[in-house]
Amino acid sequence: MRSLIDILELSTQEIDELVAVAEDIIANPVKYSEKCHGKKLATLFFEPSTRTRLSFEAAMYELGGNVLGFSEASSSSASKGESVADTARIVSGYADIIAMRHPKEGAPLVASMYADVPIINAGDGGHNHPTQTLTDLLTIHREKGRFDNLTIGLCGDLKFGRTVHSLIGAMSRYSNIKFVLISPNELKVPDYIRNDILIKKGMDFEETASLEDAMPKLDILYMTRIQRERFFNEAEYLRLKDSYILDTDKLRTAKKDMCILHPLPRVNEISTAVDDDPRAAYFRQARNGKYIRMALIMKLLEVK
Ligand code: NCD
Repeated sequence: MRSLIDILELSTQEIDELVAVAEDIIANPVKYSEKCHGKKLATLFFEPSTRTRLSFEAAMYELGGNVLGFSEASSSSASKGESVADTARIVSGYADIIAMRHPKEGAPLVASMYADVPIINAGDGGHNHPTQTLTDLLTIHREKGRFDNLTIGLCGDLKFGRTVHSLIGAMSRYSNIKFVLISPNELKVPDYIRNDILIKKGMDFEETASLEDAMPKLDILYMTRIQRERFFNEAEYLRLKDSYILDTDKLRTAKKDMCILHPLPRVNEISTAVDDDPRAAYFRQARNGKYIRMALIMKLLEVK
C-alpha cells in the first residue's frame, strides 16, 4: 500500500506513466468508466478548496467509484478535538483511499502512518501540494510537449505557496531547466527549497523582484496568489498583496509561445483581459487536474 505525500516519492518514470495514462483517459474516457467500480474515495478537507476537492470527487465518479467526506474541519470530529491520526484510522475502515488537505504541515504524513489505506496529500499548509504539481506537469506536457529545456518563471508568493515548492522539486529532475524566482524580498522561497533542492542539485536559478525584467526569457510563467491566510499579520498582507498584476501590457515582451499557468484561485494577480490570450493555460490546467487525479487514484489502488 502506497501513499503520496511528497511529489519526489514518484520517480520521473512513474510521472511519465501517470501523464501518459491521463492523456489516454482524455482520448478514451469510456475505457476507464468502471475501473474503480465498488471503490470509495474519502475527501477529508480541513481547509477550503474548490478545484482540488471537486476534481478528486469528479475523478472518482468518472472511474465508476463513490465518494464520501467533509469539506470543513468544523463539520468533522476535529472540532471536538480528535487527532488526525485517529481520524485517519477511523476513515480507513470506511474508504479505500483518502485525499486529505490540512492547514498543518505534515498532517497528511501523520495520517499515512496510521491509516490502512493510501493517503494522498491534497495540500498541507504552506508546505507541499503534489497533486497540483501532477496537474501542472500534465499541463506542461500538453502545452509545451516536453519537460526539459525550459525557463520557468515562478511569480508571487514563493514563501507560502505550496504549489511552487512541489513544482520546483519535480522540475528540478529534468535537464536544462532554469528557474526565475520572481517575488518581493519578504516572499522568497523558504531555505529548505533553496538549500535542499536548488543549491544541492546545482540548479540554474535567479531571484528577482521584477516581473518585467524576467518576462522576455520565460517559456512558462507560473503566477500565484499572495497566500493571505498564512500571513502572521494583515498589514503585511495588505502591503504585499498587489505586488504583481499580470496584464496584457506586461505580456507584450513575452515569447509568442510562452505558457501562462496559475494553480488558481486567482485574486487579482492576473487581469481578466489576459484570459483571452491563447497563452493563458490556467483554465485548461484546472481541467487537467481531474484526469491526472484519475490516473493517480488508479495507480495507488493498483487498478490495471
Ligand atoms: C492552491 C492551493 O490550495 O495551494 N490551490 C489549488 O489547489 N489549486 C493555490 C492557492 O490556494 O493559492
